[in-house]
Amino acid sequence: MADIVRQTTGGSGGIVIDDDWPGYSLELFSYPAHYAGDLECVVVPHGVIMDRTERLARDIMDDLGDHDIVVLCVLKGGYQFCADLVDKIKALSCSSDRTIPMRVHFIRLKSYLNDQSTEDIHILGAEDLSFLQGKNVLIVEGIIGTGKTLKALLKHVEAFKPKMIKVAGLLVKRVPQNTARLPHYVGFEIPNRFVVGYALDYNEYFRDLNHICVISESGKLKYKM
Ligand code: HPA
Ligand code: MG
Repeated sequence: MADIVRQTTGGSGGIVIDDDWPGYSLELFSYPAHYAGDLECVVVPHGVIMDRTERLARDIMDDLGDHDIVVLCVLKGGYQFCADLVDKIKALSCSSDRTIPMRVHFIRLKSYLNDQSTEDIHILGAEDLSFLQGKNVLIVEGIIGTGKTLKALLKHVEAFKPKMIKVAGLLVKRVPQNTARLPHYVGFEIPNRFVVGYALDYNEYFRDLNHICVISESGKLKYKM
């Protein structure tokens, strides 16, 4: 198994999950019974997400400790990662001699229908971000797919002249057409497959699943719009 999930040197691009990684059988984990038959495999179990998030929190503390930051949580897919990342940064702020005073702000982006990225990217809750001027901003995203949404969001946020912008993405997909810059903090680099769980959805379903899983073809049909 060790050769399937390999670590990038330095870890800056996150834990790399190769294209031929078959995932873990669902039988090895517990998950909600209402999703029986809707999933193919577990790609990243919940516990591994938490462990990796703890390390990202430490990296963020090392880079930004003693700076005030505004955390910009990108809803809806980023809510769980953001909540857990903020929790881990808070824990470090209590247990070490450095702290990161944080404010948390939420914006909502929507660009996917079924498993396809659409051209129109809607940014809600981001109309007036003038309070970001001169601030250190940490954008927290659940997944970066084509990179189009992140690009649009960065352009939008940059217009409000923050002092610094860092991006934390739990998952980055290996998508050939991805032209966006890599986030500064990456949890996992994953194959170009549609994944759900840990707040990532397929037409609003599967957010209530702890692990990151690949959706099955029958799952796609069942929840298709
Ligand atoms: N799953 C859920 N949302 C997404 C994905 C995905 O694989 N890619 C981009 N948004
Ligand atoms: Mg979605």
